[in-house]
Amino acid sequence: MQRPARGRYNPRMLDDLERILIPQDVLARRVRELAQDIGRTYADSPHGLVIVPILAGSIIFLADLIRCLPFKMRIGLIAVSSYRGTAPAAHGPRVIQPLNVDITGRDVLLIDDILDTGNTLRFVREQLRERNPASLRICVLLRKPAKAPLDVTADFVGFDIEDVFVVGYGLDYNDLYRNWPAIGVLRPELYS
Ligand code: IMP
Ligand code: MG
Repeated sequence: MQRPARGRYNPRMLDDLERILIPQDVLARRVRELAQDIGRTYADSPHGLVIVPILAGSIIFLADLIRCLPFKMRIGLIAVSSYRGTAPAAHGPRVIQPLNVDITGRDVLLIDDILDTGNTLRFVREQLRERNPASLRICVLLRKPAKAPLDVTADFVGFDIEDVFVVGYGLDYNDLYRNWPAIGVLRPELYS
Protein backbone atom coordinates (compact mmCIF):
# COMPACT_ATOMS: atom_id res chain seq x y z
CA MET A 1 0.00 0.00 0.00
CA GLN A 2 1.20 3.49 -0.79
CA ARG A 3 2.76 5.46 2.05
CA PRO A 4 1.45 9.00 2.46
CA ALA A 5 3.63 12.00 1.71
CA ARG A 6 5.92 12.43 4.70
CA GLY A 7 4.71 15.81 5.83
CA ARG A 8 1.12 14.65 6.28
CA TYR A 9 1.48 12.76 9.55
CA ASN A 10 3.54 13.05 12.72
CA PRO A 11 6.88 11.71 11.49
CA ARG A 12 7.76 9.93 14.72
CA MET A 13 4.66 7.79 14.54
CA LEU A 14 5.09 7.22 10.82
CA ASP A 15 8.60 5.91 11.46
CA ASP A 16 7.12 3.16 13.65
CA LEU A 17 4.68 1.96 11.01
CA GLU A 18 5.32 -0.69 8.42
CA ARG A 19 2.46 0.54 6.22
CA ILE A 20 -0.89 2.25 6.19
CA LEU A 21 -3.70 -0.30 6.16
CA ILE A 22 -6.73 2.02 6.09
CA PRO A 23 -6.25 5.68 5.14
CA GLN A 24 -8.22 8.49 6.75
CA ASP A 25 -10.62 9.14 3.89
CA VAL A 26 -11.57 5.46 3.64
CA LEU A 27 -12.16 5.34 7.40
CA ALA A 28 -14.31 8.45 7.32
CA ARG A 29 -16.47 7.16 4.47
CA ARG A 30 -17.02 3.78 6.12
CA VAL A 31 -17.84 5.33 9.49
CA ARG A 32 -20.54 7.43 7.80
CA GLU A 33 -21.97 4.27 6.17
CA LEU A 34 -21.99 2.46 9.50
CA ALA A 35 -23.82 5.38 11.08
CA GLN A 36 -26.44 5.15 8.34
CA ASP A 37 -26.91 1.40 8.99
CA ILE A 38 -27.14 2.02 12.72
CA GLY A 39 -29.47 4.94 12.15
CA ARG A 40 -31.84 2.76 10.10
CA THR A 41 -31.75 -0.03 12.69
CA TYR A 42 -32.69 2.22 15.60
CA ALA A 43 -34.76 4.85 13.80
CA ASP A 44 -38.00 3.67 15.36
CA SER A 45 -36.60 2.57 18.71
CA PRO A 46 -39.22 3.26 21.35
CA HIS A 47 -36.72 2.54 24.10
CA GLY A 48 -33.97 5.05 23.41
CA LEU A 49 -30.51 4.04 22.26
CA VAL A 50 -27.66 3.76 24.74
CA ILE A 51 -24.21 3.39 23.21
CA VAL A 52 -21.66 1.70 25.45
CA PRO A 53 -18.08 2.15 24.23
CA ILE A 54 -15.35 -0.09 25.55
CA LEU A 55 -12.63 2.31 26.67
CA ALA A 56 -10.18 3.45 25.60
CA GLY A 57 -9.73 1.87 22.17
CA SER A 58 -13.11 2.94 20.82
CA ILE A 59 -12.98 6.65 21.70
CA ILE A 60 -12.03 8.06 18.30
CA PHE A 61 -14.38 5.73 16.43
CA LEU A 62 -17.16 6.57 18.89
CA ALA A 63 -16.66 10.31 18.53
CA ASP A 64 -16.83 10.18 14.73
CA LEU A 65 -19.67 7.65 14.60
CA ILE A 66 -22.11 9.29 17.00
CA ARG A 67 -21.75 12.68 15.36
CA CYS A 68 -23.20 11.09 12.21
CA LEU A 69 -26.27 9.70 14.02
CA PRO A 70 -29.41 11.66 13.26
CA PHE A 71 -31.26 11.11 16.57
CA LYS A 72 -30.92 11.53 20.33
CA MET A 73 -28.93 8.92 22.17
CA ARG A 74 -27.13 8.33 25.46
CA ILE A 75 -23.62 7.13 26.25
CA GLY A 76 -23.03 4.61 29.04
CA LEU A 77 -19.52 4.17 30.36
CA ILE A 78 -18.03 0.98 31.72
CA ALA A 79 -14.33 0.51 32.37
CA VAL A 80 -12.83 -2.94 31.83
CA SER A 81 -9.27 -4.17 32.06
CA SER A 82 -8.33 -6.74 29.46
CA TYR A 83 -4.84 -7.94 30.44
CA ARG A 84 -3.69 -9.42 27.20
CA GLY A 85 -0.73 -11.55 26.27
CA THR A 86 2.30 -10.66 28.32
CA ALA A 87 0.56 -9.68 31.56
CA PRO A 88 2.44 -11.30 34.46
CA ALA A 89 -0.69 -12.64 36.17
CA ALA A 90 -2.72 -13.51 33.08
CA HIS A 91 -6.43 -13.55 33.77
CA GLY A 92 -9.61 -12.67 31.92
CA PRO A 93 -11.18 -9.22 31.66
CA ARG A 94 -12.32 -7.47 34.86
CA VAL A 95 -14.74 -4.62 35.50
CA ILE A 96 -12.83 -1.65 36.89
CA GLN A 97 -15.78 0.71 36.95
CA PRO A 98 -19.36 -0.50 36.57
CA LEU A 99 -21.75 0.87 33.97
CA ASN A 100 -22.92 4.36 34.95
CA VAL A 101 -26.37 4.43 33.33
CA ASP A 102 -29.53 2.34 33.66
CA ILE A 103 -29.98 0.23 30.51
CA THR A 104 -32.96 -1.82 31.68
CA GLY A 105 -35.51 -1.90 28.87
CA ARG A 106 -33.30 0.18 26.56
CA ASP A 107 -31.70 -0.61 23.21
CA VAL A 108 -27.98 -0.98 23.77
CA LEU A 109 -25.19 -0.85 21.20
CA LEU A 110 -21.84 -2.04 22.49
CA ILE A 111 -18.91 -0.50 20.62
CA ASP A 112 -15.32 -1.66 20.42
CA ASP A 113 -12.34 -0.87 18.26
CA ILE A 114 -11.57 -4.44 17.20
CA LEU A 115 -12.97 -7.94 17.47
CA ASP A 116 -9.91 -10.13 17.90
CA THR A 117 -10.23 -13.18 20.18
CA GLY A 118 -13.60 -11.85 21.38
CA ASN A 119 -12.76 -12.29 25.07
CA THR A 120 -13.36 -8.64 25.96
CA LEU A 121 -16.63 -8.32 24.06
CA ARG A 122 -17.92 -11.64 25.37
CA PHE A 123 -17.25 -10.52 28.93
CA VAL A 124 -18.79 -7.06 28.58
CA ARG A 125 -21.78 -8.45 26.71
CA GLU A 126 -22.54 -10.75 29.67
CA GLN A 127 -22.18 -7.84 32.11
CA LEU A 128 -24.73 -5.85 30.11
CA ARG A 129 -27.14 -8.75 29.57
CA GLU A 130 -27.50 -9.10 33.34
CA ARG A 131 -29.06 -5.63 33.35
CA ASN A 132 -31.90 -6.68 31.04
CA PRO A 133 -31.67 -4.31 28.08
CA ALA A 134 -34.49 -4.47 25.50
CA SER A 135 -31.88 -5.35 22.86
CA LEU A 136 -28.12 -5.69 22.74
CA ARG A 137 -26.07 -5.39 19.56
CA ILE A 138 -22.36 -5.10 18.87
CA CYS A 139 -20.53 -2.71 16.55
CA VAL A 140 -16.79 -2.93 15.87
CA LEU A 141 -14.62 -0.85 13.62
CA LEU A 142 -12.32 -3.77 12.77
CA ARG A 143 -12.58 -7.54 12.81
CA LYS A 144 -9.93 -10.17 12.27
CA PRO A 145 -11.97 -12.96 10.68
CA ALA A 146 -9.09 -15.40 11.00
CA LYS A 147 -9.53 -15.30 14.79
CA ALA A 148 -13.09 -14.14 15.44
CA PRO A 149 -14.91 -16.70 17.60
CA LEU A 150 -18.25 -18.19 16.60
CA ASP A 151 -20.04 -17.19 19.78
CA VAL A 152 -19.22 -13.47 19.60
CA THR A 153 -20.57 -11.96 16.43
CA ALA A 154 -20.78 -8.29 15.57
CA ASP A 155 -23.94 -6.80 14.05
CA PHE A 156 -22.06 -3.87 12.50
CA VAL A 157 -18.48 -4.22 11.21
CA GLY A 158 -16.40 -1.48 9.64
CA PHE A 159 -13.63 -3.53 8.05
CA ASP A 160 -12.45 -7.12 8.02
CA ILE A 161 -8.65 -7.08 8.21
CA GLU A 162 -5.82 -9.57 8.02
CA ASP A 163 -4.28 -10.87 11.24
CA VAL A 164 -1.69 -8.14 11.77
CA PHE A 165 -1.18 -5.83 14.75
CA VAL A 166 -2.67 -2.45 13.92
CA VAL A 167 -2.57 0.91 15.66
CA GLY A 168 -4.13 4.31 15.24
CA TYR A 169 -7.63 5.79 15.23
CA GLY A 170 -7.93 4.80 18.90
CA LEU A 171 -6.05 1.51 18.78
CA ASP A 172 -2.89 1.41 20.83
CA TYR A 173 0.31 -0.39 21.52
CA ASN A 174 1.40 0.26 25.11
CA ASP A 175 -1.13 3.09 25.15
CA LEU A 176 0.67 4.85 22.29
CA TYR A 177 -0.45 5.64 18.73
CA ARG A 178 -4.14 6.18 19.59
CA ASN A 179 -3.91 9.64 18.03
CA TRP A 180 -2.58 8.42 14.70
CA PRO A 181 -5.42 9.47 12.39
CA ALA A 182 -5.46 6.36 10.19
CA ILE A 183 -5.08 2.59 10.77
CA GLY A 184 -1.49 1.45 10.33
CA VAL A 185 0.45 -1.78 10.77
CA LEU A 186 3.04 -1.47 13.52
CA ARG A 187 6.55 -2.56 12.58
CA PRO A 188 6.80 -6.09 14.04
CA GLU A 189 10.24 -5.51 15.59
CA LEU A 190 8.65 -2.90 17.90
CA TYR A 191 6.47 -5.37 19.73
CA SER A 192 7.91 -8.84 19.18
P1 IMP B 1 -9.94 -9.48 22.28
O1 IMP B 1 -10.48 -9.52 23.70
O2 IMP B 1 -8.85 -10.46 22.02
O3 IMP B 1 -11.02 -9.53 21.22
O4 IMP B 1 -9.19 -8.11 22.16
C1 IMP B 1 -9.87 -6.94 22.17
C2 IMP B 1 -8.95 -5.83 22.55
O5 IMP B 1 -7.58 -6.12 22.29
C3 IMP B 1 -9.30 -4.65 21.71
O6 IMP B 1 -10.26 -3.86 22.33
C4 IMP B 1 -7.97 -3.96 21.55
O7 IMP B 1 -7.81 -3.04 22.59
C5 IMP B 1 -6.95 -5.05 21.67
N1 IMP B 1 -6.44 -5.48 20.33
C6 IMP B 1 -6.69 -6.63 19.67
N2 IMP B 1 -6.06 -6.66 18.48
C7 IMP B 1 -5.41 -5.48 18.39
C8 IMP B 1 -4.56 -4.88 17.37
O8 IMP B 1 -4.28 -5.41 16.28
N3 IMP B 1 -4.07 -3.64 17.67
C9 IMP B 1 -4.35 -2.98 18.82
N4 IMP B 1 -5.13 -3.49 19.78
C10 IMP B 1 -5.65 -4.73 19.57
MG1 MG C 1 -5.78 -1.87 23.63
